[in-house]
Amino acid sequence: MQEKIFILDFGSQYTQLIARRVRELNIYCEIHPFNKIPKLTKDLKGVILSGSPHSVREDCAPIPALDGIKGVFPLLGICYGAQHLAYHFGGEVLPSKIREYGRANLSYVDNKHRLFKNVPINSQVWMSHGDTISVLPQSYKIIASTLDVNCAGFEIQNEETFGLQFHPEVYHSSDGGKILSNFLLDICSCSQDWTPASFVESTVIDLKQKLGNEKVILGLSGGVDSSVTAVLLHKAIGTNLHCVFVDNGLLRKDEFSDVLNQYEGMGLNVTGVDAKALFYSSLKGLSDPEKKRKAIGKAFIDVFDQASHQIKDVTWLAQGTIYPDVIESVSASGGPSATIKSHHNVGGLPDYMKLKVVEPLNTLFKDEVRRVGKSMGLSSHLLGRHPFPGPGLAIRILGDVNLEKVSILQEVDHIFIQGLKDHQLYDSVWQAGAMLLPVQSVGVMGDERTYEKVVALRAVESMDGMTADWVHLPYEFLAKISNEIINKVKGVNRVVYDISSKPPATIEWE
Ligand code: XMP
Repeated sequence: MQEKIFILDFGSQYTQLIARRVRELNIYCEIHPFNKIPKLTKDLKGVILSGSPHSVREDCAPIPALDGIKGVFPLLGICYGAQHLAYHFGGEVLPSKIREYGRANLSYVDNKHRLFKNVPINSQVWMSHGDTISVLPQSYKIIASTLDVNCAGFEIQNEETFGLQFHPEVYHSSDGGKILSNFLLDICSCSQDWTPASFVESTVIDLKQKLGNEKVILGLSGGVDSSVTAVLLHKAIGTNLHCVFVDNGLLRKDEFSDVLNQYEGMGLNVTGVDAKALFYSSLKGLSDPEKKRKAIGKAFIDVFDQASHQIKDVTWLAQGTIYPDVIESVSASGGPSATIKSHHNVGGLPDYMKLKVVEPLNTLFKDEVRRVGKSMGLSSHLLGRHPFPGPGLAIRILGDVNLEKVSILQEVDHIFIQGLKDHQLYDSVWQAGAMLLPVQSVGVMGDERTYEKVVALRAVESMDGMTADWVHLPYEFLAKISNEIINKVKGVNRVVYDISSKPPATIEWE
């Protein structure tokens, strides 16, 4: 039995943030679309209704089936969730006349109320709504207000049902964490039993049951997700886990041997496959980014297929898919979106491989994967690595790819990344790398005129790779790295720094 909280999603941009706040309190939670509520079991401790881009007054407003939830389990409606609880049960919600976006302060708070324990008057809250509750149904009671919003918080008497028109989950609500903790601990009585160690323990038991004595194959990439997946599976099924780490010739300098050694040191059953020749021949003559990606995906599948045939009787494919990849988000039209982003570490397997899929991390956020990895003793070196794209340096070499270009870029990338590490900048950057541009520029070295390649350096800060901003690396550092690259890497005579944010640019150049 794993205690849990359900978050019913109405499409708010903050839904994942609510889940993060709940998990930060070591409480397990799941996000579900408002119209796909799973069976309610005894281990459910409470339910949170998210915000929404919709208005409760619209004809097609999302309406959840709360029978069996409201009045039975503790229930907290946030923003749209609160307005739904008011409007649908006999209250009135109108377009707000005044601005209800951004910061506000509580002008009244019932701090004897369990939900507002230790929340002072004047506490800053974050509003983001175009509607406002103008009349509450009978038996509802206001428990917090701001100067502009009389009903900032309410309770339904004789039920454990509450509504907040502001967003306690965002950092700008200064006591939001306290309010959520009051709801989850004092009202839902959650015991905070969800920790990385408990996750490992229960997942290992589940995996043992699910996989029995069957063999599992896993493609390792050197990244955090596939490494943590490997260690978890190894704990559960030992040598029945067969890991494959492919040298596609598009990795960073010395990465294949370094990472392979680390994996072997961790006791994993890893086969390193040298497939450089296959990847280079598949890429020959291709310069279109999408065609390059497809060729790489196909080569991965071929290598993987071959490796799985060498290991007899494999029935499972393990993947390092994480929670943000599988959450079904509610689309703006009100229904759950049909497209679930599915991430395949090996580029999507064809049906003929007929492997069952096991994804032990698919309930975790990225930082939780790191915490789980840490609790199992993975090195901080492995856990703190920057993300690196599956197609590797191929999508950082603009245009066609060959061994000479890969070698140049590996040297450039190595100087940049090592420099970030030496200057204690690596951990404050989310991702960094270098691009080899398909242009040459004129330079002068000694008395010689040169006509050589240009590289671009990129370092970004980001939460999840969806949006990103360029990092303001110190000028002295950039000067030093540029100098070192031009002096040491033959064939490069110019270095530029990418100062584009995403959007409108992307992190990778291809
Ligand atoms: P973009 O370039 O889309 O990148 O802003 C966002 C994040 O995704 C990584 N990326 C990839 N990862 N296969 C991967 O496994 C790919 O084809 C791929 N393309 C981009 C990129 O490195 C960044 O972290």
